[in-house]
Amino acid sequence: MDQTEIIGHSSKIRHLLNIAKKLASSPEITVLIEGENGTGKELFARRIHQLSQTADNPFVDINCGAIPESLLESELFGHEKGAFTGATDMKKGLFEIAEGGTIFLDEIASTSLNFQSKLLKAVENKRIRHIGGIQEVSISTRIIAATNINLYEAIKRGQFREDLFYRLNIGRMTVPPLREREEDIELLVEHFIETCNQEYNRSIKGIRPKALERIKAYPWPGNVRQLKHTIERAILIESEDWIEPDDLDLDFELESMMREAEVAMSSIKQFENIQQFDFPTQGIALEELEKGIIESALNKASGNLSEAARLLKISRGKLRYRLEKLGIHS
Ligand SMILES: Nc1ncnc2c1ncn2[C@@H]1O[C@H](COP(=O)(O)OP(=O)(O)OP(=O)(O)O)[C@@H](O)[C@H]1O
Ligand SMILES: [Mg+2]
Repeated sequence: MDQTEIIGHSSKIRHLLNIAKKLASSPEITVLIEGENGTGKELFARRIHQLSQTADNPFVDINCGAIPESLLESELFGHEKGAFTGATDMKKGLFEIAEGGTIFLDEIASTSLNFQSKLLKAVENKRIRHIGGIQEVSISTRIIAATNINLYEAIKRGQFREDLFYRLNIGRMTVPPLREREEDIELLVEHFIETCNQEYNRSIKGIRPKALERIKAYPWPGNVRQLKHTIERAILIESEDWIEPDDLDLDFELESMMREAEVAMSSIKQFENIQQFDFPTQGIALEELEKGIIESALNKASGNLSEAARLLKISRGKLRYRLEKLGIHS
């Protein structure tokens, strides 16, 4: 089975597949793929490469966050013999190794400003120089970068160069979190049941509606990767034919605590924006507050879940989860 198949029929995924197709035919455009952990950024990078005319040339990926800075530079740009202690031979950089193909710079936001300026220069001039070298080597490698943090915020904090951002941003794609494309969940579940059945030589027939409901209500902080592992685990422990709710290892409690903290933080921020919020000394009942807000959104939306979710700026799945948690009957 094709490991790079992108499953999903939501309008968001179809839109991204279209963009990927267009970007594939313009190798000179640098691409920036944003999205939370496990949303499928690498999958889209590989798709762009596969759809391009240079698909037979290498696709080289490097996780910029996992390598110390000095090493990262020599990995990407290469070095001459004797450039530094330990450089016993000339070594080509990944830009050259990926020549004519694609280089995928994962976790671009964790690089230093100094490295970013070198990268910008390479991208703009389409030339690189080995560390310790004199001559420049021209490169025609497509560059795709990915990040799971918001680069605007990183720029504001002074951790990311604005000029590099604008350069990378030309072909920008944002892969939405799984909780914002509930329509894809069932397809993904079926897909992972099929692939896991093959991989582990099992013959699970499918998933019980109740279990699927649980999956749809879960907010999936680890996105598609977490869903995949959850199905994998369910298939390994389920001894009968169908995945049951009990096979799913989903910590709703923990998630709800995390989300509550997030909501509390963001409501305080919102209050701060509207008026300097003076927190009452007797405290506030967050759950009651949340319940009240959700109920009034439901009222305003005449009970329509999608509309209420839109008013609250959360996904339907998230709203359903909160309704269940707070015991609200819509
Ligand atoms: N739409 C999809 N269809 C099928 N599989 C998917 C899809 N999206 C993600 N996956 C699978 O989920 C896992 C995570 O995807 P991927 O590595 O592309 O995510 P990522 O955004 O790069 O994650 P990270 O931020 O952690 O690097 C992979 O096993 C991938 O095959
Ligand atoms: Mg990745």
